[in-house]
Parts: sequence; structure tokens; C-alpha cells
Amino acid sequence: MALSDKFLTADEAAAMINHNDTVGFSGFTPAGAAKAIPTALAKRAKVEHEAGRPLQIGVVTGASTGQSLDGELALAEAIAWRTPYQSNKHLRASINAGKTRFFDMHLSTLPQQVRYGFLGKFQWSVVEACDVTEDGEIVPTTSVGAAPTFCAVADKILIEINRSHPAALRGLHDIYQPQDPPHRQPIPLTNVSDRIGVPFIKVDPAKIAGIVETALPDEVAPFDASDATTRKIGENVAEFLAGELRSGRIPKEFLPLQSGVGNIANAVLAALGSNSDIPRFQMYSEVIQDSVIALIESGKIEFVTGTSLTVSPDVLKKVYANLDFYKKHICLRPQEITNNPEMVRRLGIITINTAIEIDLSGNVNSTHVMGSSMMNGIGGSGDFTRNGYISIFTCPSLAKGGKITPIVPLVSHVDHSEHSVQVVVTEQGVADLRCKTPHERARLIVDNCAHPDFRKELHGYFDSVTKGQTPATLSAAFAMHEKFLKTGDMHGVDWKAAGLA
Ligand code: COA
Repeated sequence: MALSDKFLTADEAAAMINHNDTVGFSGFTPAGAAKAIPTALAKRAKVEHEAGRPLQIGVVTGASTGQSLDGELALAEAIAWRTPYQSNKHLRASINAGKTRFFDMHLSTLPQQVRYGFLGKFQWSVVEACDVTEDGEIVPTTSVGAAPTFCAVADKILIEINRSHPAALRGLHDIYQPQDPPHRQPIPLTNVSDRIGVPFIKVDPAKIAGIVETALPDEVAPFDASDATTRKIGENVAEFLAGELRSGRIPKEFLPLQSGVGNIANAVLAALGSNSDIPRFQMYSEVIQDSVIALIESGKIEFVTGTSLTVSPDVLKKVYANLDFYKKHICLRPQEITNNPEMVRRLGIITINTAIEIDLSGNVNSTHVMGSSMMNGIGGSGDFTRNGYISIFTCPSLAKGGKITPIVPLVSHVDHSEHSVQVVVTEQGVADLRCKTPHERARLIVDNCAHPDFRKELHGYFDSVTKGQTPATLSAAFAMHEKFLKTGDMHGVDWKAAGLA
């Protein structure tokens, strides 16, 4: 059947998806996420539920998405299970209320685990595209994520052709999928800007069950303007890296950077851009944010590889107005390649990610609040941190209006162990943990990175403990968390009552 005969409305497309189906949606952050079909499916689910009929699906994406996908489906109680990363408040509430089954995964491993069959059978792949050809070449929009894998494994494919993205995006993407063991070969990529695949997702055209036309913009929220805290964190990271460069521990050509998501990451990049000791650099990262575009424009960033172009609407307009220029500086790849441990180790990526909590040994919690509530998920932080040339974690020294110190005796949940975390940076300063013992680490982290309001308190936890390799006292390790849960403030722990001599 010709593609022209496959055009449907979003409602017609959504009607094809059945209760208990597993759907792999395109989208890595709100960039390139399917929008019209999930919203129509949410509407249908509400009607079905009112009629007493079940309609819930398994939702798998590249990473988080926007309101039209995670938000609407969660509000309609249409998500039975979800992986690998989310950041939508409605979905988060549903997960933490125990209504949606959520399991977290390293983003680099998602595509291969889908192919290995670990997530079961996929009935549908729903992908946003800027172009599709009769012979099955699908050109994605602002992200690649895991869409090539979903298209490969799913029984049927639904495409959202989004007219707000130019078909001229063809050439921005580089789609390469490794074979699976025991046939896997080394990924043939030795430079950040190498192209090793094709500029489209190739599918069997017979699998395309429908095409929906839309012009819905990506739902990327504008970034907060940097404040004194995020600016200072950024400056501290930039000065630390400039020092490493001067000392020769980072080669004079510099190394590619990976930078996490959110406002701190955006401010870190801005600070690197304005530090004259940092030379022109490349990025091998996951999410390309606003600050990267500004640095490409200024010439500070030579080339960036990412899996999503997650920029605010005005910045995207600017990119599209000068697309030929940006195509020379940006490549979007599958998350399996951008986050691949083999690539991170080979290219010598300097990794910079944000923590919720960091403890006195350097263990990092990226995902949970007070040990039990899921925030977003591990994302790519483990892929990069575990394999980085230098792995850096940032966070502000205070959270929740000063009632919480993110520097804690022991993290309430572990995502990255002390063995993978080398440098901690807050707006207070830098703790370089390399070659330091646990006792030395505790002192450095508290004295250099904790907020002055909490330093004395944190010293109270470990100063009197002089024996043992690690200054841990099990009965007191969560006393600050418990204090917060009881009083809404971590200040004022009675260490004696908590079991310290
Ligand atoms: N205890 C309780 N809450 C805390 C906290 C702590 N120690 N530290 C932060 N928070 C809360 C903040 O108050 C905020 O809550 P709010 O949304 O109710 O205001 C929320 O966590 C997010 O913190 P914020 O300061 O806005 O940080 P952010 O937007 O930079 O996000 C992470 C921080 C850790 C949640 C985010 O970076 C993340 O999801 N990381 C994991 C994935 C990852 O690293 N991806 C990048 C790999 S490429």
C-alpha cells in the first residue's frame, strides 16, 4: 500500500492500540516525542475506563517525554508499566502512589535489552518523523533515543509526521545499531564527529500501519535563568578543569565533555564557555541544551554528538533558520551509541552530572528523595560516570529552602558508588576525591562542599570516629534523614542519642 493511503487521524491510530500492548514511543526528553497518538490514546482510555473496560499499556521511551505522552497517559491511568526514565509530575505521582509499575534502567542498555527480549514483545512503535519515504526510510525529528530499536522489534509502526520540523533535518542523524553478542563488533567510531551509520531509520514499509500528520511543537520548558548558586557551581567546575589542564592531567587538546540535564548543567556549560583557560572543545553527550547552541555559535564548541536536541522553542527556531551551519556541528545518534560505555572510555569523556545527595564517601544518589520516592531515574548518569576520564558530580549545598543538606553521612539510595565518583562540586567549592581514603574524603567533602550551616553538624557524625577504614556509625547514618522526616528540617541532630559516643 502506498504511504498516501496510510494517513489516519490520531484517534484512528490510537484505536489500533489494545489493552496490555507494549508500545515503544519515540522521544528522549520532550524532544522528538510522539504527541498526537498518546494524547488520543489517553482520551480513549478515559472513555474505556468510564465504561468499565480496561485500557492500560506498557510505555517504553528513550528517556523522559512531555505532557502529551507521559502526562496525559498518566492522568488517564493508562500506563500499566513504564521504563526507563521520566520526569513528568503526574507520572511521578502515579509511580510513587504504587499505581504505575516503574523500573529504572541505564539508558545505554535499554535498546539492547529490548532486542534481547528482556522487556517482552513490542506490539507497537510510535515514532515522530519529519519525513518518510515509500521504501521505509524514516527521518526522526529532534531526537533519536531508542526509536530505531523500537521500529526494528515492534510488530507494527505508527508514524507522526510533524510538519513543524523541516524535512531538511535529513543528514542531522547518524543511525547505527550494533549487532548482538556473540556477533557484536567494535563500534567503528574514534572521533566525536565520525559518521558511521545512515541518516534515517530503515524499516520494512509493510510494517507501517498508519501515518498521522501533526504540527505540534516539542514541549521543552524554557530553562530558568542561572542564579548565583548555579553560576558559582559552573565556575567551580570550569576552574577545576582549567587547573587539570594546566597540570597536564587533561591533555592540552582538551577532551570531549558530557554534561547532564537541567539548570545546573546548563549553567556549567555557560561557565565553561566563558572561561578563557578552557580551549575550544567537543561534546559527546546525551542531551543538547540551549547553552550548547550558544557555544557552537560563539565558536567555543566545535562539534557535539547527542541523542536529543532539547532546546527551548526560540533556540530551535534559530537552529532551523541556519540549519546547514548547525548540521556541520551537531550529530544526533541512538542513545545506545551516545551513552555507550565503550565510547565513553575510548573517547576519554569528562562527565558532569547532578546528584540529589552525595555522602561522605562520595556515593551518589541521583534518583530518590529520602530513600523511597522516585524523582526521575538514573538516566545516562551511570553510563557516563562509570566510564568517564574524570567523573564529576555537582549539586547545590542546600535543598528545600535550606532545610536539607544534599551532603549527607550516608546516601539514602545508591546509584553511583564511591568507586565511580571522583570529584564533587557545589557552589561552596570542589572536593577532589582521587587517591583519598574514606576518612580524607569525608573531611574534604564537608569542608569544601557542604554549606557552612551544616558543616559542624556533619563533623559531629565522623570527627569522633577514628578507627576503621570508613568513618561509618550504622545507628547514626540516617539520623539527619530521620530528623527531616520527623520535623521537616535536617538541622539539630542529637548525635549522642543517635548512638555516637
Ligand atoms: N532531598 C530532597 N529533595 C531534593 C534534594 C535532596 N537532597 N535535592 C534536590 N531535591 C529536589 C529539589 O528541591 C527539586 O524539587 P522540586 O522539583 O520540588 O523543586 C528536585 O529535587 C529537583 O532538583 P533541582 O535542584 O531542580 O535539580 P535539577 O533539575 O538539576 O535535577 C536531578 C537534579 C538529580 C533530579 C536530575 O539531574 C536527574 O534526574 N538526574 C538523574 C539523571 C541524570 O543524571 N541524567 C543525566 C545523564 S546524561
